[in-house]
Amino acid sequence: MRTVDLILRKRGGEELAPEEIQYLVDGYTSGEIPDYQMASFLMATFFSGMTDRELSACTDTMIRSGETIDLSDIPGFKVDKHSTGGVGDKTSLICAPIAAAAGVVVPMMSGRGLGHTGGTLDKLESIPGFRTDLTIDEFRRQLADLGLAFIGQSDDVAPADKRLYALRDVTGTVESIPLIASSIMSKKIAEGIDALVLDVKVGYGAFMKKQVDARRLAAAMVGIGRRLDKKVVALITDMNQPLGYAIGNALEVMEVSQTLQKAGPADLTRLSLELAARMIHLGKKAATLDEARKIAEDKLMDGSAYRKFKQVVAAQGGNPKALDNFELLPNATGMREIMSPRGGYVSAIMAEDIGRASQMMGAGRNSKEEGIDPAVGVILEVKVGEKIDVGAVLCRLYYTGEENVDEAADLVEDAFRISGNRPEERELILEVVS
Ligand code: URA
Repeated sequence: MRTVDLILRKRGGEELAPEEIQYLVDGYTSGEIPDYQMASFLMATFFSGMTDRELSACTDTMIRSGETIDLSDIPGFKVDKHSTGGVGDKTSLICAPIAAAAGVVVPMMSGRGLGHTGGTLDKLESIPGFRTDLTIDEFRRQLADLGLAFIGQSDDVAPADKRLYALRDVTGTVESIPLIASSIMSKKIAEGIDALVLDVKVGYGAFMKKQVDARRLAAAMVGIGRRLDKKVVALITDMNQPLGYAIGNALEVMEVSQTLQKAGPADLTRLSLELAARMIHLGKKAATLDEARKIAEDKLMDGSAYRKFKQVVAAQGGNPKALDNFELLPNATGMREIMSPRGGYVSAIMAEDIGRASQMMGAGRNSKEEGIDPAVGVILEVKVGEKIDVGAVLCRLYYTGEENVDEAADLVEDAFRISGNRPEERELILEVVS
């Protein structure tokens, strides 16, 4: 087999055989196929897509590229949740403790923020002492004890995805439906789950800008799950404005704490409860979805989800007191208010620009090696649909160094669209694919 022949055939829109896909993925993971050839294959895939047979071969090879974690000796159904990435999206830190408080076992393997989107690991690590580098043994022990553990992707799980994702990130090939679907599903299946709830984001702040593409991505991931005998449900949700009010790691942890104490923003609370209900239902802790929704609400309202989150924070080395006393979290030293240049209705808040501004001030990274500043970010003061006067505060920027703040402020100011007419109300949960 010659790699160049496979690239040419893919470029021409031909279907490759499963063993040819396997040759490419294995060859790249082992270092036999160089970056330039794999980059070319990825770009050909970006334009030509993959058939179901190719997608299956790609996902299976990525799963087999490393270790698969066996959680079968831990009693109960293991259900994870994964988002395709958004701005202000901290639902994992809320729905996971709710589901765990309801008795679901939640092995949550998460990623770091990249580009304008945030990552669960960075948010958790803003809690002083919190460790996300648990060993697999520690992970299993905590799952057995508390029913919930947060961990990063280890080098041994789906290493093919690690290599491919890094290459995609620098070759403009991230936003491809089969490549995203195989990347997410290979990690999730290798992690030993029985079922998965997906939050597929769509809109200005998401990888998928159009609902039709989000639907295709959701269907591809649900299909992979079905073939491998895993129950997968995908919610397609709006990411045209940030979720909640807080963007930035420690700021988002503060909002998580408020939400788990029943004082969170309406959109964040609603989506977190629905995701938790889906996890409870797939985890067989409720016979119907309505019953699962009731259980999710009860676990939030009676404080057991908050207690669960604090137990998990303590078990992973974090200081749970920081969730009640925000002074113990990293705090910014500077603050700037952004005022509205005119009165009217807030018709849009371009989520990607808010995410980029936050990243620019240090909340996110441009490459996987960069460090981040956990204290910085943006707090919105308004949401889409609100009527405001000229000079109203639209948001506050929190920073620790002056560098890039002017540029971030310009970006944020342009992100708010103010119009004379009340905008149409947009649904938060747009579709369910299962
Ligand atoms: N998240 C992933 O894990 N992989 C992708 O390809 C995109 C988002």
